Amino acid sequence: MRLRRNRTILLATATAGLLGTFATMVGIADVGEIGAISFVPWVALFGAQLGPATGSLAGCAATALYLVASETVGDGVHPVALVLRVIALVGVGAAAGLSSRRISSDALELQATNALQRALLDSTVDGICLTDTAGNIVLANAPLERFAVELGLPEHGHVAERLLALAGRTTEPARFRERMEALIRDPAASTDEFELTDSRRVFRGCTAPAVRPDGTAVARIWTLREVTADRHLERLRDAFVGAVSHELRTPLTSISGFLEMLGDEEKCLSSSGRTYLRVLQRSTTRLQSIVEDLLLVAQIEANRLELDHAPADLAELAAASVEAAGPAAAAQGIDLRLDTNGSLPLEADAERLRQVLDNLVSNALKFTPDGGSVTLLAHNGDGNVCVEIADSGIGIPRDEIGQLFSRFYRASTATRRAIPGTGLGLVIARAIVERHGGSIALESREGQGTRVTVTLPIRQVAGSLAGGT
Ligand SMILES: Nc1ncnc2c1ncn2[C@@H]1O[C@H](COP(=O)(O)OP(=O)(O)O)[C@@H](O)[C@H]1O
Ligand SMILES: [Mg+2]
Repeated sequence: MRLRRNRTILLATATAGLLGTFATMVGIADVGEIGAISFVPWVALFGAQLGPATGSLAGCAATALYLVASETVGDGVHPVALVLRVIALVGVGAAAGLSSRRISSDALELQATNALQRALLDSTVDGICLTDTAGNIVLANAPLERFAVELGLPEHGHVAERLLALAGRTTEPARFRERMEALIRDPAASTDEFELTDSRRVFRGCTAPAVRPDGTAVARIWTLREVTADRHLERLRDAFVGAVSHELRTPLTSISGFLEMLGDEEKCLSSSGRTYLRVLQRSTTRLQSIVEDLLLVAQIEANRLELDHAPADLAELAAASVEAAGPAAAAQGIDLRLDTNGSLPLEADAERLRQVLDNLVSNALKFTPDGGSVTLLAHNGDGNVCVEIADSGIGIPRDEIGQLFSRFYRASTATRRAIPGTGLGLVIARAIVERHGGSIALESREGQGTRVTVTLPIRQVAGSLAGGT
C-alpha cells in the first residue's frame, strides 16, 4: 500500500518535471539555454518506476516536448540533432528501467533468502544467538527469546552475565557461577549443563567462537537446548535398574546359599542330579555377578563409588589375577603369562583394582580363541605404575573402539560369535581407574588382538579422590 503511494508520488513528480521543463522552455522562449538534458532526470524516473519500455516511451515523449517547445519559440532543430536527442533520452529511459528491474529482483531475492534463513533459525528447538566479540547480542532466534522470557533472564548485557543471574536458582550455584565467570573471561568453546531447582528443568548450553578463515574471532555463537526429558528418562532408567538389581540380590543370595548346602550333600545325589547342581551353581554365580555389575554401574552413575585407599602392590594384584584365571586359561589351552620385575607399590583400593584386572583378564581370555596367548606386563612409569593386558584374540573393528566404554555396548566381533557378556565390564573398569586418578587405553586390531593399558598414579593427589566418574 505504502509502496504504491510512493510510486504514484514519484510518477506525478516525473510528469510534473517533464511538463515543467517544457513550460519553462516555452516561458523563457529559449530552448537551447535549458537543453534536452533537463528532461533526463524525469525520463530516468519513469524508467526506474515503470520499467525499460515505459522509460523508452518517456524518452520519446520528452523528445516530442523538446521539439514542440523549439517549434513554439521558433528555434529550429536540425534533424540529426533531433535523432541524437531521441536516442539519448530513449537510452536513458531504457537503461534506468533495466537497472532498476535488476536491483529490485536482487532485493527480492535477498529478502526471500533472509526470510528462509530466519524461518530455519526459528524452527529449530534450540535457542540460538550470535554475539559480537564484546558479548552483545547481534541476532537471536525465537526459541532463545522464549527461553529468555521463561527463565526470566535480564534483557541487557553479556550473555554469560545474563545467565549468571540464574546461578542462585540452579542446583549447583557455586559451580555454575564459576563456569559463567570463566566464560566471560575465556573465549574458548565449551559445553555445560545446569538444572533449575524450582522447575527441575535441565538445559545444556554450548558456546563457540565464530572465526574467519584466517583464524580471527569475529563473533560468538551460543546455543541453549532443553534436555529435561532426556535427563528425566535417564534417572528413571537408573533408578529402575538399581531397584530391580537390589530386589534380585536377596533371592539370589538365598538360592546360592541353598545350592551350597546342597553341594555339601552332593554324595546323596544321583549323577544327573550332580550335573544339574553344577549347572545351577554356574548360572547362579553368573547371575550374581551381573546383578553386582548393575548395582556398581548405578553407583558409578550416581557418583557414589566409594574407594578405600591403602598401600597396595600392582605386581601382586596382577599375579593374583593371573593365578585366579589359571584354570580357565588352561581349559582353553591359552598361554597366560605375567611379565614383571619386582614390586610396584602404590596407594589404591586393592579390592577394586583387583576387580579391574579380573575384568580385563577375563575379557582377554573370553575373546581369545583356544590355543592363543594372553600376557600381562606390569611395570613402573614416571610417577605412575602400568599394567598392559595383551591378547592374540579376535580384536575389535577400528570404528567401534570409540564406543566400547559406553554402558551395554558390545563390539560386533563379540556379538557375531555369540560370546556371552553384558557390556558393563569396561565401563566399570574405566570408572574405577579414573577414580584413582589414572587412565585406561585400548588398542586393537580385528583378527589380531587387543591391548588394554591401565596407568595409575603411585600417590593419590587429594583432588583426584573427589573427581566424578
Ligand atoms: N580383549 C578383548 N578382545 C576383544 N574384544 C574385547 C576385549 N575386551 C573387550 N572387548 C569388547 O568390548 C566389549 C565390552 O567389554 P565389556 O564391557 O567387558 O563387556 P562384556 O565382557 O560383558 O562383553 C566386549 O563385548 C567386546 O566386544
Ligand atoms: Mg567383560
